[in-house]
Amino acid sequence: MSESRAKAMRLADYQQPDFLIPELSLEFELDDHQTQVIATSKIVRQGDHDRPLVLHGEKLELTEVQINGQAVQPQGSDTDLTFASVPDEFTLRIVTRIDPANNTSLEGLYKSGQAFCTQCEAEGFRKITYFLDRPDVMARYQVKITADKARYPYLLSNGNKVDAGELPDGRHWVRWDDPFFKPSYLFALVAGDFDLLEDEFITQSGRKVALQIFVDKGNLHRAGHAMRSLKKAMAWDEQKYGLEYDLDIYMIVAVDFFNMGAMENKGLNLFNSKFVLADAAAATDEDYFNIESVIAHEYFHNWTGNRVTCRDWFQLSLKEGLTVFRDQQFSADMADPAIVRIKQVKVMREHQFAEDAGPMSHPIRPAEVMEMNNFYSVTVYDKGAEVIRMLHTLLGEQGFRRGMDLYISRHDGQAVTCDDFVQAMQDANNVNLELFKRWYSQSGTPVLSVKEQYDQQSGQFTVALHQHTPPTADQPHKQALHLPIALEVLGTHGSKSQVLSLTKESQTFPLGQFETKPQLAVLAGFSAPVKLDFKQDEQGLLNTVLYAQDPFLRWDASQQLISEALHRAAEQGQTVLSDNLQGLFEGVLEFAPEQRALAAEMLELPSFETLAQQRQRIDVDALLNARNALKRLLADRFHPQWQALSASSSQSYIYEADQVQKRRLRAVCLGYLAHRQDQSTLLQSAYTTSDNMTDTLAVLKACQQADHPLFSGLMQDFESRWQADSLVMDKWFALHGSHQHKDSLAKLQLLTSHAMYSINNPNKVRALIGSFAFYNTAGFHALDGGGYRFVTDYLLKLDAVNPQVASRLITPMLGFAHLDDRRQDLLTQQLARLLDNKSLSRDLFEKVSKALKLSS
Ligand code: TRP
Ligand code: ZN
Repeated sequence: MSESRAKAMRLADYQQPDFLIPELSLEFELDDHQTQVIATSKIVRQGDHDRPLVLHGEKLELTEVQINGQAVQPQGSDTDLTFASVPDEFTLRIVTRIDPANNTSLEGLYKSGQAFCTQCEAEGFRKITYFLDRPDVMARYQVKITADKARYPYLLSNGNKVDAGELPDGRHWVRWDDPFFKPSYLFALVAGDFDLLEDEFITQSGRKVALQIFVDKGNLHRAGHAMRSLKKAMAWDEQKYGLEYDLDIYMIVAVDFFNMGAMENKGLNLFNSKFVLADAAAATDEDYFNIESVIAHEYFHNWTGNRVTCRDWFQLSLKEGLTVFRDQQFSADMADPAIVRIKQVKVMREHQFAEDAGPMSHPIRPAEVMEMNNFYSVTVYDKGAEVIRMLHTLLGEQGFRRGMDLYISRHDGQAVTCDDFVQAMQDANNVNLELFKRWYSQSGTPVLSVKEQYDQQSGQFTVALHQHTPPTADQPHKQALHLPIALEVLGTHGSKSQVLSLTKESQTFPLGQFETKPQLAVLAGFSAPVKLDFKQDEQGLLNTVLYAQDPFLRWDASQQLISEALHRAAEQGQTVLSDNLQGLFEGVLEFAPEQRALAAEMLELPSFETLAQQRQRIDVDALLNARNALKRLLADRFHPQWQALSASSSQSYIYEADQVQKRRLRAVCLGYLAHRQDQSTLLQSAYTTSDNMTDTLAVLKACQQADHPLFSGLMQDFESRWQADSLVMDKWFALHGSHQHKDSLAKLQLLTSHAMYSINNPNKVRALIGSFAFYNTAGFHALDGGGYRFVTDYLLKLDAVNPQVASRLITPMLGFAHLDDRRQDLLTQQLARLLDNKSLSRDLFEKVSKALKLSS
């Protein structure tokens, strides 16, 4: 391992920058392999010191350096450029060359298909030019782009277009000026040929904003939903938070090669095309939902992220946790809030709890980072949003808004910390949030134990709460946290909701007087990101399912009932449909039509990943068998109901709540029906008559999960119909990757040479290999070690192409603490094989070395 790869940065070592760069002019002469970048900056020493100027830079070819017009010779290395002594204030001109066409990391300036584009967050700007590539150095940017006009008619960057011209040799140029100070991670450039969807938005103060969405040629008809989503998000932020857009133009560019979902570059968002393009034939309801939410997320960053940005990358949750919370609020307002909440909680339980339980556990504000890209995590994003949500719960809607107003007005134009945010919340509300701040520094999933007590004599009902956070890989000792615990007491005269504030390890709360022992339901709305340890009998859970006010509580009770039955079945090696379980399904199947959406969520069995997080140790095969067996039992027992509810409607596809609910319930029913052998005709006809991707995919998924004989024929048909459509083919690759079948590994191997597959495209890798590692439980965890070996072999290849994507793909190999010894051994062997690779990226090195430390 090389020295630089092993070195971690610590939050505690933060120091203000030695120099600031208030102005930067960038000139690009675009070329596939020889792009020239001229960076001219104004640099000012900060404070009284004579330390050298050290600029970040990676993979750059330096051709010229001048200070105040005089050539100088700085000291270069692989990662920086050092100027031993410089004036207190000066102009620095640096000319470098880069090779975008060979940049497969998709960080810095690269080519996505025929277009040039950039990705700078977190530390990618240093692959474009030498600079102080840290978010507390904010500059005003002027950008000039020159390129061939025929191939690159659109030349885009941040801010406003101020000038343009043509050159005699067929090239043209455009000059952009961004009036807002911004950190380098928000810089963006795009050059290419696109179809353009245009619209406009009038802000609440009456300013007109031009809206532009750039998509690949031929995709214009798929950009409408994204545009509508953007306008909704703009209106919502004004109405909910009083936040208005600040430039005259807002641009979104959709590209096929992208490491993540999207990027909030000032005035010029870049999107993975998967989160822009949608039409009924090719996109599912879930795609429509995700597009609306990601479009909103990036838009909301304009205030929470861009106008107020992060001081350093340890503070990432300052912008991400808050912006995810805001996009969650928006999604809840746009759709069924209970269903939206259930979706979010599933992410926490399946992925964030797993991260906390593994070698990469970290607080939402990490204290130590080796590779920053590894901390764009479910913890920083989703648990970060849960922490903001708890503040919202504790302060109330208005108190939270007061805090937001103060935060924005106090810090507009600044690069600040998570503490600054909590301080604003505290100051605006006159409350003490000192204890609450511990959520930022402590990792791990607290376990909340609940004991109820009913005094027959006095009728007093009390609840005793106890919190305990088990040690994590990064932190052996844990302290008590501030937990808002929302609960419902269901008595004979209806239910009563309240929020308890748990601030100590143990506390007892009186809940009132009741004639008979009431039913208690805890963690309404998932009011805190904890695991619940509350022993309730099945009858009690059934009561909650049927009578609680909060739909989340009702859903959660149903999931607890089913989960316990599954764990019991796995332990006993025998699955039975108990009376209570039958009662649950009977009850839910009788829900009124308005409750259809909730019913669909309840009828679906908890995922394997969620079940796995509920126990210290799991028996993979037994749990998988139990889950499949229960599905078959339910398929048979409620066969007429599944059939009745799966009847298709004749409405043509629209993305709207009522239709979405119907399709969702239908998909769940098909999922059961496919477990019966006598349903081929029904499934085949559901596939054939479908006019939209949601219903089509529902059939394919049902057949895939039940390993129905129809599956391979339908997949062939689907492929021949969609083989030219990249985004749709990703769905097809994902279905193959997660198909639990004895030949799945061989199939996977074959598909890596499919005409539409490419290791250079992250969407393809995630669809095929990612689905296998994350969701093909039987294949990935196969006892012959073939699944682990396959993923490891692939990671070795992928790491050299795109370390960021490789580093996400390794996640399922890290969470092995709850697996059996045999599988732990197999995984350890494969991880050791990775560590043996001397050119392993810093991204993978950080994760693998931590994982191996944990297990030894
Ligand atoms: N800031 C982006 C968001 O949350 C995500 C992001 C971070 C990203 N790093 C990235 C996107 C690298 C693409 C590539 O919206
Ligand atoms: Zn974000």
